[in-house]
Amino acid sequence: MTQTESSLTANSAWQTLQSHHAQISNVHMRELFSADPDRGQRLTAEALGIYLDYSKNRITDETVKLLVELAERSGLRSRIDAMFRGDKINATEERAVLHVALRAAKDQSIVVDGEDVVPEVHAVLDKMAAFCDRVRSGQWKGHTGKSIRTIVNIGIGGSDLGPVMAYEALRHYSQRDLQFRFVSNIDGTDLAEALQDLDPAETLFIVASKTFTTQETLTNAHSARRWCLDGLGDEAAIAKHFVAVSTNAEQVAAFGIDTANMFGFWDWVGGRYSFDSAIGLSLMLSIGPVQFREMLAGMHAMDTHFQTAPFDQNLPVLLALLGIWYNNFFDAQSVAILPYDHYLGKLTAYLQQLDMESNGKQVDLEGNAVDYQTGPIIWGAPGTNGQHAFYQLIHQGTKMIPCDFIGFCETLNPLGNHHDLLMANFFAQTEALAMGKTEAEVRADGVDEFQVPHRIFAGNHPTNTILMGRLTSESFGQLIAMYEHKVFVQGAIWNINSFDQWGVELGKVLAKKIVPELAPSGSEPLQHDSSTNALIERYRSGKKS
Ligand code: F6P
Repeated sequence: MTQTESSLTANSAWQTLQSHHAQISNVHMRELFSADPDRGQRLTAEALGIYLDYSKNRITDETVKLLVELAERSGLRSRIDAMFRGDKINATEERAVLHVALRAAKDQSIVVDGEDVVPEVHAVLDKMAAFCDRVRSGQWKGHTGKSIRTIVNIGIGGSDLGPVMAYEALRHYSQRDLQFRFVSNIDGTDLAEALQDLDPAETLFIVASKTFTTQETLTNAHSARRWCLDGLGDEAAIAKHFVAVSTNAEQVAAFGIDTANMFGFWDWVGGRYSFDSAIGLSLMLSIGPVQFREMLAGMHAMDTHFQTAPFDQNLPVLLALLGIWYNNFFDAQSVAILPYDHYLGKLTAYLQQLDMESNGKQVDLEGNAVDYQTGPIIWGAPGTNGQHAFYQLIHQGTKMIPCDFIGFCETLNPLGNHHDLLMANFFAQTEALAMGKTEAEVRADGVDEFQVPHRIFAGNHPTNTILMGRLTSESFGQLIAMYEHKVFVQGAIWNINSFDQWGVELGKVLAKKIVPELAPSGSEPLQHDSSTNALIERYRSGKKS
């Protein structure tokens, strides 16, 4: 792998940003705000009811102008057009990238390999809706004639994180007499705990796997199948208690699931972009087809905004450019996602896969090693819990951690003044992070002298505030599509393929090789490095059976 000077760092917009960074990197947001009373209103953008305040960033109007120039000179517009047109922009897998087609309106047409995919998308949605109506109404009966009470989604990665995140996010709209469990880990504890209080006669399994070859999912699905057969004692039960979501009908049939009970999708849907396809069947079972379609409408509205809004008012583009500003010019290593809504408790884990699996890349589209940083580390936790755990480091540690604060004006669970208290914390945090507390202010509080340095807050910590009206299926769809496109924009500017994931392969291959070495009969001489050999030996002698 050779390192060449990339066209990105040679780009004049990039170089101008570097000089601009040298000029403003030490300017404090306190100065920026006091010199410019309108800053908090001006450095904002609004679309579809999402209000983005990006004024608490280490930027000036000039920074925004230069970042937008970088986007333009990096060919972002043509990359957006190529994706929406259905070009095979996932070059290493020779696939189109068309999650936007999953929420396209019925009268749209998007052609892949000579075929309009939109009618197929709607046909699957209709099939899902009909199935969900039957299960939700109790019409779908299990093997013994009982209705389904629990749905267990078995999947991993995009076939788990999206569905479980969205299920939790929209739980307010769920049918409460159905319960949902999500099993992903190959650790048997996950499945065992999920099943221990369930009745197989009332349980429906969704085996969700794009490829239907994923070791974790198939292992869990086979164990679930055994549990079901042990409980119901009849192969015929499988057809009533197992459905599949996959692109691989052959493997679904080989597993023993009737392909009439299979919901399909397509190779142009990436796993981490798939919960709005049939992979979201568990979500549709929970919230129903009407709410599911509202979510799709929200995503579609964001797609249109992304496709048409000028870059300096385009929410995903602005978020992406601000991320690039810190990642590539301030050398920030991570981004914290901090949702101030308990329903969004799994958003960070979902965005971790979305962003890190997409943009954790070391070579550009031409296969050259990049000479700039690509995707950041994504982490975080819902507010206010994070405040009592890791915010200390964001406020007073030595690392720069740009944060996205996500909050809603209205709560879905009005309970005393809880929501005002939550949001008071939300506003207080971004204010504290930006403005800090000076030595003079600390002294003015009359604190003991020895404590003064410990109680100073440097401030100047960048945050984006994403303020929305109310968490609905539609606004949730908008929020997720906004992040999908943010990740796309960053990948486009870094000139990497955001849609493959070769980095997960090596570990999978090595694990397959190790499996027989751990079996009781495994006695072949080990041929790994000395550390791995010794660890396997220790495991072999340490395990009881
Ligand atoms: O190993 C990574 C990955 O391929 C993800 O990209 C994907 O979401 C996950 O595994 C699950 O894959 P599948 O849906 O094919 O089981």
